[in-house]
Amino acid sequence: MVDMFSIKDKVIIVTGSGKGIGYVYAKGLAEKGAKIAICDINQENLNKVEQEFKGAGYQVVSQKVDITNQSEIENFVKEVINNFGKIDVLINNAGVLLRRLPEEMLENEWDFIMDINVKGTFLFSQAVGKEMIKADCGGKIINISSQAGVRAADRRLGYCTSKAAIIHFTRTLANEWGKHKINVNAIGPGYIKTDMNTDLRADPVRYAKMKQEVPLGDFGEPEDILGTIFYLCSGASDYVTGQIIFVDGGITTQ
Ligand SMILES: NC(=O)c1ccc[n+]([C@@H]2O[C@H](COP(=O)([O-])OP(=O)(O)OC[C@H]3O[C@@H](n4cnc5c(N)ncnc54)[C@H](O)[C@@H]3O)[C@@H](O)[C@H]2O)c1
Repeated sequence: MVDMFSIKDKVIIVTGSGKGIGYVYAKGLAEKGAKIAICDINQENLNKVEQEFKGAGYQVVSQKVDITNQSEIENFVKEVINNFGKIDVLINNAGVLLRRLPEEMLENEWDFIMDINVKGTFLFSQAVGKEMIKADCGGKIINISSQAGVRAADRRLGYCTSKAAIIHFTRTLANEWGKHKINVNAIGPGYIKTDMNTDLRADPVRYAKMKQEVPLGDFGEPEDILGTIFYLCSGASDYVTGQIIFVDGGITTQ
């Protein structure tokens, strides 16, 4: 029987894969036999991941890319196609968070969040989408939104707005590119243990309060998102597009 969840030999780009959840996506997919293209703005972290993956025998292309820089993205996309011949899946994972009171947030801080979380997702989707359309073989784009895209959070006006934008970006692009058989979906993680919230978890009162918001009782691990990533990368989701799947321990019920 055909394994409809197979990832083997799929060419998958994961942005922001030098650490955090992006690293876990890239590793999990490579373990399942995907050809992995990793990029990050942090060269040092990227080098470590590239070495680890090559040491494990994974097929990997690695390049430093700032996802707000169109020419860096286009060079990387060319490099991936030169090495692997095609792109099956793009995971727009790279993202940043700043906590600021709305009345104190600076214009350049607002731009920083929007440029990376929203414009970067657009630029990468466009560069990869053009290649998918040219190849006429369809493809999949997975955007990383957040529970913060549908829930208000204190001092996160910019971040919440950017993640809400990703939700409608996902629906709108799915509508545009359905005719090219490009599925565009998003994942909305809940509170996941990474550097993005180390400071919050270090404050016992704050951590306890945040855990109480989660029906399943605690923050998730990056690995908790992997099953949904596998599903959205595989043929099992071929008729799914324009959807936002929350993997959040139930926090969006609150
Ligand atoms: N951790 C959570 O609780 C959580 C919850 C919901 C959504 N998310 C989202 O998941 C994604 C990954 O988050 P994380 O917790 O792993 O964060 P992280 O800070 O651990 O990792 C983010 C990665 O993105 C890279 N990056 C930042 N700016 C970049 C740029 N301009 N170009 C290329 N790479 C860049 C960083 O260098 C880093 O490697 C983000 O989009 C985040 O918003 C995280």
